[in-house]
Amino acid sequence: MSEKPFLDNAYSVETVAETKAFYNDWAATYDAEVTANGYATPRRCARALAKFCTDKSAALLDVGCGTGISAMAFSGAKFSNISGCDLSSEMLAKAGERAGLYQDLWQADLNDPFPFETGTYTNIAAVGVLATGHAPADTILQITAKLPVGGLFVFSLNDHTLQDSSYEGRIADSVDSGECELIFKDYGAHLPGIELKSTVYVLRKR
Ligand SMILES: C[S@@+](CC[C@H](N)C(=O)[O-])C[C@H]1O[C@@H](n2cnc3c(N)ncnc32)[C@H](O)[C@@H]1O
Repeated sequence: MSEKPFLDNAYSVETVAETKAFYNDWAATYDAEVTANGYATPRRCARALAKFCTDKSAALLDVGCGTGISAMAFSGAKFSNISGCDLSSEMLAKAGERAGLYQDLWQADLNDPFPFETGTYTNIAAVGVLATGHAPADTILQITAKLPVGGLFVFSLNDHTLQDSSYEGRIADSVDSGECELIFKDYGAHLPGIELKSTVYVLRKR
């Protein structure tokens, strides 16, 4: 078997049902496979959020939290009030095994409206989540709409997603409308093992 049996197919899932089934099947071996391929974006996102966040005990929602690798990176950067949501029940089950990491974990599809009030979470993260077949570009505006003034949204777009101009288009829409300012943008390593890079962004709500 290849060393990256799921990564080989991760960028070809198209529908929500396919994505959910794909991650349910991958949950048991996800951590080992992405770690073996040098998964770097979680630590890059955590460092970027830490650079601008003035209160690391403020509520942070990790959307598409997966098995908890991204929350581990935020925790490592001293964020102490992390909740997570994900489409896949199996990924959530793995995240739940990381005792004490999360305040709360719940199942959600980013294609649906968020079931919480604006300002519930001071900061929101989406690490390796925003992509065709996972969550559409409009998810960016759905998330920024839920931030309080001064709240931060840290997220990544990998090389595949960057080819779809609608994702950076929604970032531009948020900035051009005066909703958010783009305070961080950095292109760097994502999964070196498959020669994939990503851009990490931080938007701050005005
Ligand atoms: C590449 S993994 C990233 C997980 C974690 N953030 C990390 O850095 O390891 C993508 C995650 O997004 C979740 N996901 C994909 N589409 C989603 C959707 N529409 N709504 C919620 N979660 C979704 C998947 O179930 C999976 O756990």
